[in-house]
Amino acid sequence: MSETKIKIEDGPVAVTGASGYIGSRIVEDLLEQGYSVNACVRDASNAIKTEHLHEMNEKGLGGSVELYEGDLFKKGSYDKAFFGCSAVIHAGATVGFNRETPQEVYDGCFTENEHVLSSIKQSNSVKRFVFTSSFAAVGHPRPEGYIFSEKDWCGDNVDGYKGAWTEDNIAKNRDIAYAMAKANTEKMIYKAAQEDGGFEAVSINPLHVIGPLMSENHNQFFSWQFFILQLLKGKDFGFWDGKQIRPSTMLWNVVDVRDVARAHRLAAESLKPKNGSRYILSASDRSGEMFTWELQAKLKELFSDIGEIGGEQMLDGKPTNKTYDSPRSYCSLAKSELGLSTYSIEETLLATGNSQIRLNLI
Ligand SMILES: NC(=O)c1ccc[n+]([C@@H]2O[C@H](COP(=O)([O-])OP(=O)(O)OC[C@H]3O[C@@H](n4cnc5c(N)ncnc54)[C@H](OP(=O)(O)O)[C@@H]3O)[C@@H](O)[C@H]2O)c1
Repeated sequence: MSETKIKIEDGPVAVTGASGYIGSRIVEDLLEQGYSVNACVRDASNAIKTEHLHEMNEKGLGGSVELYEGDLFKKGSYDKAFFGCSAVIHAGATVGFNRETPQEVYDGCFTENEHVLSSIKQSNSVKRFVFTSSFAAVGHPRPEGYIFSEKDWCGDNVDGYKGAWTEDNIAKNRDIAYAMAKANTEKMIYKAAQEDGGFEAVSINPLHVIGPLMSENHNQFFSWQFFILQLLKGKDFGFWDGKQIRPSTMLWNVVDVRDVARAHRLAAESLKPKNGSRYILSASDRSGEMFTWELQAKLKELFSDIGEIGGEQMLDGKPTNKTYDSPRSYCSLAKSELGLSTYSIEETLLATGNSQIRLNLI
Protein backbone atom coordinates (compact mmCIF):
# COMPACT_ATOMS: atom_id res chain seq x y z
CA MET A 1 0.00 0.00 0.00
CA SER A 2 1.28 3.46 -0.82
CA GLU A 3 1.97 6.02 1.89
CA THR A 4 -1.18 7.13 3.76
CA LYS A 5 -2.02 9.76 6.36
CA ILE A 6 -3.44 7.18 8.76
CA LYS A 7 -2.76 3.47 9.07
CA ILE A 8 -4.54 0.66 10.88
CA GLU A 9 -1.66 0.48 13.41
CA ASP A 10 -2.13 4.17 14.31
CA GLY A 11 -5.25 3.39 16.33
CA PRO A 12 -9.01 3.19 15.87
CA VAL A 13 -11.07 5.51 13.69
CA ALA A 14 -14.04 7.13 15.46
CA VAL A 15 -17.33 7.64 13.62
CA THR A 16 -20.13 9.84 14.99
CA GLY A 17 -23.68 9.19 13.82
CA ALA A 18 -22.60 5.56 13.39
CA SER A 19 -26.17 4.30 13.58
CA GLY A 20 -27.27 6.61 10.74
CA TYR A 21 -27.74 5.88 7.05
CA ILE A 22 -24.34 7.23 5.97
CA GLY A 23 -22.53 6.55 9.27
CA SER A 24 -23.39 2.83 9.21
CA ARG A 25 -21.89 2.45 5.74
CA ILE A 26 -18.75 4.32 6.87
CA VAL A 27 -18.36 1.85 9.75
CA GLU A 28 -18.84 -1.10 7.38
CA ASP A 29 -16.29 0.23 4.89
CA LEU A 30 -13.69 0.84 7.61
CA LEU A 31 -14.20 -2.70 8.94
CA GLU A 32 -13.75 -4.10 5.44
CA GLN A 33 -10.36 -2.37 5.35
CA GLY A 34 -9.40 -3.93 8.71
CA TYR A 35 -9.75 -0.86 10.96
CA SER A 36 -10.89 -0.90 14.58
CA VAL A 37 -13.85 1.47 14.75
CA ASN A 38 -15.16 3.41 17.73
CA ALA A 39 -18.77 3.80 16.67
CA CYS A 40 -20.47 6.70 18.47
CA VAL A 41 -24.20 6.31 19.06
CA ARG A 42 -26.65 7.96 21.43
CA ASP A 43 -28.03 4.77 22.95
CA ALA A 44 -26.12 1.51 22.48
CA SER A 45 -29.01 -0.48 23.95
CA ASN A 46 -31.46 0.72 21.30
CA ALA A 47 -31.64 -2.40 19.15
CA ILE A 48 -33.64 -0.74 16.37
CA LYS A 49 -30.77 1.69 15.81
CA THR A 50 -27.72 -0.42 16.66
CA GLU A 51 -28.42 -4.11 15.99
CA HIS A 52 -26.86 -3.93 12.52
CA LEU A 53 -23.70 -2.43 14.04
CA HIS A 54 -23.36 -5.22 16.62
CA GLU A 55 -23.88 -7.78 13.85
CA MET A 56 -20.94 -6.40 11.84
CA ASN A 57 -18.53 -8.03 14.31
CA GLU A 58 -19.93 -11.44 13.38
CA LYS A 59 -19.53 -11.00 9.63
CA GLY A 60 -15.76 -11.50 9.49
CA LEU A 61 -15.28 -8.18 7.72
CA GLY A 62 -11.67 -7.81 8.87
CA GLY A 63 -11.81 -5.08 11.51
CA SER A 64 -13.89 -4.76 14.65
CA VAL A 65 -16.39 -2.26 15.98
CA GLU A 66 -16.96 -1.09 19.54
CA LEU A 67 -19.91 1.10 20.48
CA TYR A 68 -19.47 4.29 22.54
CA GLU A 69 -22.34 6.40 23.81
CA GLY A 70 -22.32 10.17 23.38
CA ASP A 71 -24.51 13.16 22.63
CA LEU A 72 -23.43 15.88 20.24
CA PHE A 73 -25.13 18.46 22.45
CA LYS A 74 -22.92 17.53 25.44
CA LYS A 75 -19.37 18.84 25.61
CA GLY A 76 -16.88 16.12 26.49
CA SER A 77 -19.26 13.40 25.29
CA TYR A 78 -16.66 12.01 22.88
CA ASP A 79 -13.47 12.38 24.96
CA LYS A 80 -13.43 8.64 25.66
CA ALA A 81 -14.45 7.53 22.18
CA PHE A 82 -11.82 9.68 20.42
CA PHE A 83 -8.99 8.85 22.83
CA GLY A 84 -6.10 7.24 20.90
CA CYS A 85 -7.90 7.51 17.54
CA SER A 86 -6.03 8.33 14.33
CA ALA A 87 -9.03 9.98 12.67
CA VAL A 88 -12.54 11.17 13.41
CA ILE A 89 -15.34 11.00 10.87
CA HIS A 90 -18.23 13.20 11.97
CA ALA A 91 -21.31 11.85 10.16
CA GLY A 92 -23.75 12.56 12.99
CA ALA A 93 -26.12 15.47 12.79
CA THR A 94 -28.28 17.04 15.46
CA VAL A 95 -30.70 18.23 12.82
CA GLY A 96 -33.38 15.89 11.60
CA PHE A 97 -35.70 16.14 8.69
CA ASN A 98 -37.80 19.27 9.27
CA ARG A 99 -38.17 18.87 13.02
CA GLU A 100 -36.30 22.01 14.15
CA THR A 101 -36.67 25.74 13.58
CA PRO A 102 -34.22 27.24 11.05
CA GLN A 103 -32.26 28.97 13.85
CA GLU A 104 -31.98 25.65 15.76
CA VAL A 105 -30.69 23.98 12.60
CA TYR A 106 -28.01 26.67 12.23
CA ASP A 107 -26.96 26.83 15.88
CA GLY A 108 -27.00 23.03 16.31
CA CYS A 109 -24.46 22.50 13.57
CA PHE A 110 -22.00 24.85 15.29
CA THR A 111 -22.58 23.45 18.76
CA GLU A 112 -22.04 19.85 17.66
CA ASN A 113 -18.86 20.69 15.77
CA GLU A 114 -17.46 22.71 18.66
CA HIS A 115 -17.98 19.66 20.88
CA VAL A 116 -16.42 17.31 18.31
CA LEU A 117 -13.43 19.67 17.97
CA SER A 118 -13.01 19.85 21.73
CA SER A 119 -12.82 16.03 22.02
CA ILE A 120 -10.44 15.86 19.04
CA LYS A 121 -8.08 18.27 20.81
CA GLN A 122 -8.32 16.19 24.01
CA SER A 123 -7.30 13.05 22.09
CA ASN A 124 -3.82 14.29 21.20
CA SER A 125 -3.78 11.57 18.53
CA VAL A 126 -6.26 12.55 15.79
CA LYS A 127 -4.56 13.49 12.51
CA ARG A 128 -7.62 13.94 10.27
CA PHE A 129 -11.09 15.22 10.99
CA VAL A 130 -13.51 14.39 8.18
CA PHE A 131 -16.77 16.33 8.41
CA THR A 132 -19.91 15.28 6.57
CA SER A 133 -20.95 18.64 5.24
CA SER A 134 -23.40 18.81 2.34
CA PHE A 135 -23.70 19.94 -1.24
CA ALA A 136 -26.01 22.54 0.30
CA ALA A 137 -22.82 24.32 1.44
CA VAL A 138 -21.79 24.52 -2.23
CA GLY A 139 -24.98 25.08 -4.24
CA HIS A 140 -27.08 28.20 -4.51
CA PRO A 141 -29.48 29.55 -7.13
CA ARG A 142 -27.71 29.69 -10.47
CA PRO A 143 -28.78 29.69 -14.10
CA GLU A 144 -29.96 26.35 -15.47
CA GLY A 145 -27.21 23.95 -16.45
CA TYR A 146 -24.52 25.69 -14.34
CA ILE A 147 -21.98 23.09 -13.18
CA PHE A 148 -21.02 23.51 -9.53
CA SER A 149 -17.54 22.70 -8.25
CA GLU A 150 -15.79 22.69 -4.89
CA LYS A 151 -14.88 26.35 -5.45
CA ASP A 152 -18.53 27.34 -5.08
CA TRP A 153 -20.01 28.33 -1.73
CA CYS A 154 -23.71 28.68 -0.97
CA GLY A 155 -23.14 32.23 0.27
CA ASP A 156 -21.71 33.37 -3.06
CA ASN A 157 -25.07 34.88 -4.09
CA VAL A 158 -24.30 35.64 -7.69
CA ASP A 159 -26.20 36.20 -10.91
CA GLY A 160 -29.17 38.18 -9.77
CA TYR A 161 -29.97 36.13 -6.68
CA LYS A 162 -28.25 38.45 -4.23
CA GLY A 163 -29.69 38.51 -0.76
CA ALA A 164 -31.08 35.00 -0.50
CA TRP A 165 -28.25 32.93 0.94
CA THR A 166 -27.20 35.33 3.71
CA GLU A 167 -26.93 35.42 7.48
CA ASP A 168 -29.97 37.74 7.55
CA ASN A 169 -32.22 35.01 6.15
CA ILE A 170 -31.05 32.17 8.38
CA ALA A 171 -33.92 32.42 10.85
CA LYS A 172 -36.50 32.71 8.05
CA ASN A 173 -35.82 29.68 5.90
CA ARG A 174 -34.71 26.15 6.81
CA ASP A 175 -32.92 25.47 3.52
CA ILE A 176 -30.87 28.64 3.89
CA ALA A 177 -30.19 27.86 7.58
CA TYR A 178 -28.99 24.34 6.74
CA ALA A 179 -26.80 25.49 3.85
CA MET A 180 -25.28 28.41 5.72
CA ALA A 181 -24.75 26.22 8.80
CA LYS A 182 -22.79 23.65 6.84
CA ALA A 183 -20.77 26.29 4.94
CA ASN A 184 -19.92 28.43 7.96
CA THR A 185 -19.17 25.36 10.07
CA GLU A 186 -16.76 24.14 7.41
CA LYS A 187 -14.93 27.48 7.61
CA MET A 188 -14.95 27.28 11.42
CA ILE A 189 -13.40 23.79 11.56
CA TYR A 190 -10.71 24.63 8.95
CA LYS A 191 -9.71 27.66 11.06
CA ALA A 192 -9.69 25.60 14.28
CA ALA A 193 -7.52 22.91 12.67
CA GLN A 194 -5.10 25.48 11.30
CA GLU A 195 -4.74 27.14 14.72
CA ASP A 196 -4.27 23.78 16.44
CA GLY A 197 -1.72 22.47 13.93
CA GLY A 198 -2.08 18.86 15.12
CA PHE A 199 -4.80 17.74 12.72
CA GLU A 200 -6.33 18.67 9.36
CA ALA A 201 -10.04 19.16 8.68
CA VAL A 202 -11.55 17.96 5.40
CA SER A 203 -15.20 17.97 4.25
CA ILE A 204 -17.38 15.67 2.19
CA ASN A 205 -20.26 17.42 0.41
CA PRO A 206 -22.86 14.85 -0.68
CA LEU A 207 -25.80 15.63 -2.95
CA HIS A 208 -28.76 13.21 -3.28
CA VAL A 209 -27.60 10.12 -1.38
CA ILE A 210 -29.43 6.87 -2.03
CA GLY A 211 -28.32 3.23 -1.98
CA PRO A 212 -28.99 0.16 0.15
CA LEU A 213 -30.49 0.66 3.62
CA MET A 214 -29.09 -1.50 6.44
CA SER A 215 -32.05 -1.12 8.76
CA GLU A 216 -35.66 0.02 8.76
CA ASN A 217 -34.52 3.02 10.78
CA HIS A 218 -32.63 4.26 7.73
CA ASN A 219 -35.92 4.99 6.02
CA GLN A 220 -36.07 8.41 7.71
CA PHE A 221 -39.09 10.51 6.78
CA PHE A 222 -38.20 13.02 4.02
CA SER A 223 -34.83 11.41 3.22
CA TRP A 224 -33.99 10.74 -0.44
CA GLN A 225 -34.23 6.98 0.14
CA PHE A 226 -37.71 7.59 1.62
CA PHE A 227 -38.73 9.36 -1.60
CA ILE A 228 -37.42 6.45 -3.71
CA LEU A 229 -39.61 4.18 -1.59
CA GLN A 230 -42.60 6.44 -2.25
CA LEU A 231 -42.02 6.09 -6.00
CA LEU A 232 -41.67 2.31 -5.67
CA LYS A 233 -44.97 2.27 -3.77
CA GLY A 234 -46.62 4.01 -6.69
CA LYS A 235 -46.96 7.30 -4.82
CA ASP A 236 -46.14 10.84 -5.69
CA PHE A 237 -44.03 12.91 -3.32
CA GLY A 238 -43.85 16.58 -2.53
CA PHE A 239 -41.73 19.08 -0.66
CA TRP A 240 -43.02 21.23 2.18
CA ASP A 241 -41.57 24.69 1.65
CA GLY A 242 -42.97 26.06 4.90
CA LYS A 243 -46.18 27.27 3.23
CA GLN A 244 -47.26 24.59 0.78
CA ILE A 245 -46.36 21.25 -0.74
CA ARG A 246 -44.20 21.93 -3.78
CA PRO A 247 -44.61 19.56 -6.73
CA SER A 248 -42.44 16.52 -7.03
CA THR A 249 -40.36 17.54 -10.00
CA MET A 250 -36.65 17.91 -9.46
CA LEU A 251 -33.28 17.07 -10.93
CA TRP A 252 -31.95 14.08 -9.02
CA ASN A 253 -28.16 14.20 -8.83
CA VAL A 254 -27.48 10.81 -7.35
CA VAL A 255 -24.59 9.33 -5.40
CA ASP A 256 -24.50 5.88 -3.80
CA VAL A 257 -24.30 5.78 0.01
CA ARG A 258 -21.51 3.19 -0.30
CA ASP A 259 -19.48 5.61 -2.44
CA VAL A 260 -20.11 8.38 0.08
CA ALA A 261 -18.83 6.07 2.83
CA ARG A 262 -15.72 5.10 0.89
CA ALA A 263 -14.97 8.75 0.12
CA HIS A 264 -14.99 9.56 3.85
CA ARG A 265 -12.42 6.84 4.54
CA LEU A 266 -10.27 7.85 1.56
CA ALA A 267 -10.39 11.47 2.75
CA ALA A 268 -9.00 10.29 6.09
CA GLU A 269 -6.30 8.15 4.51
CA SER A 270 -5.13 10.05 1.44
CA LEU A 271 -2.15 12.39 1.52
CA LYS A 272 -3.75 14.57 -1.19
CA PRO A 273 -6.29 16.48 0.94
CA LYS A 274 -5.00 19.51 2.80
CA ASN A 275 -6.67 21.36 5.63
CA GLY A 276 -9.76 22.95 4.03
CA SER A 277 -10.11 20.44 1.18
CA ARG A 278 -13.71 19.64 0.26
CA TYR A 279 -15.11 16.94 -2.02
CA ILE A 280 -18.49 17.03 -3.74
CA LEU A 281 -20.11 13.59 -3.79
CA SER A 282 -22.66 13.63 -6.58
CA ALA A 283 -23.20 11.85 -9.89
CA SER A 284 -19.97 10.76 -11.54
CA ASP A 285 -21.35 11.68 -14.98
CA ARG A 286 -24.58 12.69 -16.76
CA SER A 287 -26.07 9.21 -16.31
CA GLY A 288 -26.52 9.91 -12.58
CA GLU A 289 -28.39 13.18 -13.17
CA MET A 290 -32.07 12.54 -13.85
CA PHE A 291 -35.28 14.49 -13.81
CA THR A 292 -37.93 12.74 -11.73
CA TRP A 293 -39.70 11.48 -14.87
CA GLU A 294 -36.43 9.92 -16.07
CA LEU A 295 -35.83 8.35 -12.67
CA GLN A 296 -39.34 6.87 -12.49
CA ALA A 297 -38.87 5.42 -16.01
CA LYS A 298 -35.59 3.82 -14.89
CA LEU A 299 -37.30 2.38 -11.77
CA LYS A 300 -40.06 0.95 -14.01
CA GLU A 301 -37.42 -0.77 -16.10
CA LEU A 302 -35.49 -2.14 -13.09
CA PHE A 303 -38.54 -3.15 -10.99
CA SER A 304 -40.89 -4.28 -13.75
CA ASP A 305 -42.63 -6.78 -11.43
CA ILE A 306 -43.61 -4.17 -8.84
CA GLY A 307 -46.47 -2.70 -10.84
CA GLU A 308 -47.29 0.98 -10.50
CA ILE A 309 -44.31 3.33 -10.05
CA GLY A 310 -45.15 6.81 -8.79
CA GLY A 311 -43.66 10.15 -9.76
CA GLU A 312 -44.52 13.18 -11.75
CA GLN A 313 -47.46 13.50 -14.12
CA MET A 314 -46.86 12.38 -17.70
CA LEU A 315 -48.81 13.03 -20.89
CA ASP A 316 -48.03 11.09 -24.08
CA GLY A 317 -44.73 9.92 -22.59
CA LYS A 318 -43.67 13.49 -21.74
CA PRO A 319 -43.70 15.29 -18.37
CA THR A 320 -46.52 17.80 -17.98
CA ASN A 321 -44.26 20.23 -16.09
CA LYS A 322 -40.82 21.50 -16.98
CA THR A 323 -38.18 21.00 -14.28
CA TYR A 324 -35.52 23.59 -13.49
CA ASP A 325 -32.26 22.05 -14.69
CA SER A 326 -30.19 22.30 -11.52
CA PRO A 327 -28.12 21.32 -9.59
CA ARG A 328 -25.58 19.86 -11.97
CA SER A 329 -22.28 18.72 -10.48
CA TYR A 330 -19.89 15.75 -10.67
CA CYS A 331 -17.69 13.98 -8.12
CA SER A 332 -14.64 14.39 -10.38
CA LEU A 333 -12.32 15.73 -7.66
CA ALA A 334 -13.09 12.81 -5.33
CA LYS A 335 -12.27 10.47 -8.20
CA SER A 336 -9.04 12.18 -9.26
CA GLU A 337 -7.63 13.10 -5.83
CA LEU A 338 -9.00 10.34 -3.60
CA GLY A 339 -9.11 7.58 -6.22
CA LEU A 340 -12.83 6.99 -5.68
CA SER A 341 -14.58 4.58 -8.02
CA THR A 342 -18.37 4.69 -8.16
CA TYR A 343 -21.43 2.50 -8.66
CA SER A 344 -23.55 3.00 -11.76
CA ILE A 345 -27.00 4.57 -11.35
CA GLU A 346 -28.62 1.21 -12.23
CA GLU A 347 -26.62 -0.61 -9.52
CA THR A 348 -27.54 2.07 -6.99
CA LEU A 349 -31.27 2.11 -7.77
CA LEU A 350 -31.45 -1.69 -7.79
CA ALA A 351 -29.64 -1.99 -4.47
CA THR A 352 -31.84 0.71 -2.90
CA GLY A 353 -35.12 -0.92 -3.95
CA ASN A 354 -33.95 -4.45 -3.18
CA SER A 355 -32.92 -3.42 0.35
CA GLN A 356 -36.34 -1.83 0.87
CA ILE A 357 -38.03 -5.03 -0.33
CA ARG A 358 -35.77 -7.09 1.96
CA LEU A 359 -36.71 -4.89 4.92
CA ASN A 360 -40.42 -5.39 4.09
CA LEU A 361 -40.90 -1.66 3.51
CA ILE A 362 -42.70 -2.28 0.23
N1 LIG B 1 -28.53 11.69 3.30
C1 LIG B 1 -28.23 12.66 2.43
O1 LIG B 1 -28.72 12.68 1.29
C2 LIG B 1 -27.25 13.72 2.83
C3 LIG B 1 -26.85 14.66 1.87
C4 LIG B 1 -25.96 15.66 2.24
C5 LIG B 1 -25.46 15.70 3.53
N2 LIG B 1 -25.87 14.79 4.45
C6 LIG B 1 -25.32 14.87 5.81
O2 LIG B 1 -24.84 13.60 6.18
C7 LIG B 1 -24.93 13.46 7.60
C8 LIG B 1 -25.57 12.12 7.92
O3 LIG B 1 -26.83 12.06 7.31
P1 LIG B 1 -27.70 10.74 7.26
O4 LIG B 1 -28.49 10.78 6.01
O5 LIG B 1 -26.86 9.56 7.55
O6 LIG B 1 -28.71 11.00 8.48
P2 LIG B 1 -29.29 10.01 9.59
O7 LIG B 1 -29.49 8.67 9.06
O8 LIG B 1 -30.47 10.72 10.17
O9 LIG B 1 -28.13 9.96 10.68
C9 LIG B 1 -27.95 10.97 11.63
C10 LIG B 1 -27.16 10.42 12.78
O10 LIG B 1 -26.94 11.47 13.73
C11 LIG B 1 -27.20 10.97 15.02
N3 LIG B 1 -27.64 12.02 15.95
C12 LIG B 1 -28.74 12.80 15.88
N4 LIG B 1 -28.78 13.64 16.93
C13 LIG B 1 -27.70 13.36 17.69
C14 LIG B 1 -27.20 13.86 18.92
N5 LIG B 1 -27.81 14.85 19.58
N6 LIG B 1 -26.05 13.32 19.41
C15 LIG B 1 -25.42 12.32 18.76
N7 LIG B 1 -25.83 11.80 17.60
C16 LIG B 1 -26.97 12.32 17.07
C17 LIG B 1 -28.29 9.93 14.83
O11 LIG B 1 -28.22 9.05 15.93
P3 LIG B 1 -29.48 8.31 16.56
O12 LIG B 1 -29.46 6.97 15.90
O13 LIG B 1 -29.22 8.24 17.99
O14 LIG B 1 -30.71 9.08 16.21
C18 LIG B 1 -27.86 9.29 13.52
O15 LIG B 1 -26.93 8.27 13.75
C19 LIG B 1 -25.68 14.69 8.10
O16 LIG B 1 -24.76 15.63 8.57
C20 LIG B 1 -26.35 15.23 6.86
O17 LIG B 1 -26.54 16.62 6.93
C21 LIG B 1 -26.75 13.80 4.13
